[in-house]
Amino acid sequence: MSAPPTQDILVHTEAGVTTLTLNRVDKKNSLTRAMYAALADALEQAQADGAVRAVLLQGDVAVFSAGNDIADFLERPPTDPSAPVYRFLRTIAAFPKPLVAAVCGPAVGIGTTMLLHCDLVYAGDNAAFSLPFVNLGLCPEAASSLLVPRLLGYHRAAEALLLGEPFMAEAALEVGLVNRIVPPTECNAIAQMQARKLAAKPLASLLETKRLMKQGLVEPVLERIAEEGAIFARMLTEPAAREAFTAFMEKRKPDFSGC
Ligand code: COA
Repeated sequence: MSAPPTQDILVHTEAGVTTLTLNRVDKKNSLTRAMYAALADALEQAQADGAVRAVLLQGDVAVFSAGNDIADFLERPPTDPSAPVYRFLRTIAAFPKPLVAAVCGPAVGIGTTMLLHCDLVYAGDNAAFSLPFVNLGLCPEAASSLLVPRLLGYHRAAEALLLGEPFMAEAALEVGLVNRIVPPTECNAIAQMQARKLAAKPLASLLETKRLMKQGLVEPVLERIAEEGAIFARMLTEPAAREAFTAFMEKRKPDFSGC
């Protein structure tokens, strides 16, 4: 089902590349239900369109995404697997064509975990990645509980996921979460150039190569997305998360003493 159009996600297709731009900069590109639905729709269209050979996900020079919209989490927590956020995660995790990302500034929560499903990631030297799920009374999503330990090794994953402390572009490069660090003002253009290089290659070879590289991984990833999603949905409505979200909206520190 198509979502109502939102200007918060811009979709532009040119030279075989569909570019998806997070365009809610006044709210630090935090993602609403409408934005997840628009992203999932755009990915589905890009998958079906034979003229599209690669997709680029980009944000602003100063911020990639502050993660899920916290007001949405409070008002309409996504408790059902059919919620737009889970549809977006399933779509990006199983997306068969190459996905490129350009990341500058903060990439919080799903702003970082969606990158685990991209093939090439270019980061501005101002990029700051964080997985603050525990700090919000939540658990990992997007199969990050599976993919982050594989990528970072268990102990560094524990630091990222249990402490939830941000890590910068250099650390992300070191562990292989990003391909290259570039000046923020050039990041989107460099990622676009790489996406167009991919789009000039034969589609069948791109599809088969990505499929072979991901063989045996997509199913466990989709299973983990569902398993995490069920726990995440429950935790969203529990006292610790409610306190964390309310504290953010009230611009104060959370008090977890009763949680
Ligand atoms: N959901 C809803 N609104 C958000 C948001 C989010 N995740 N992140 C930022 N905003 C809003 C702020 O409420 C603020 O709105 P206002 O101008 O109406 O007061 C505006 O965006 C600017 O945010 P601000 O915090 O003032 O910007 P900053 O540059 O000082 O900090 C971040 C940027 C990303 C570090 C900070 O906004 C942040 O930590 N956001 C929350 C991240 C988070 O916990 N996400 C959930 C992950 S599951």
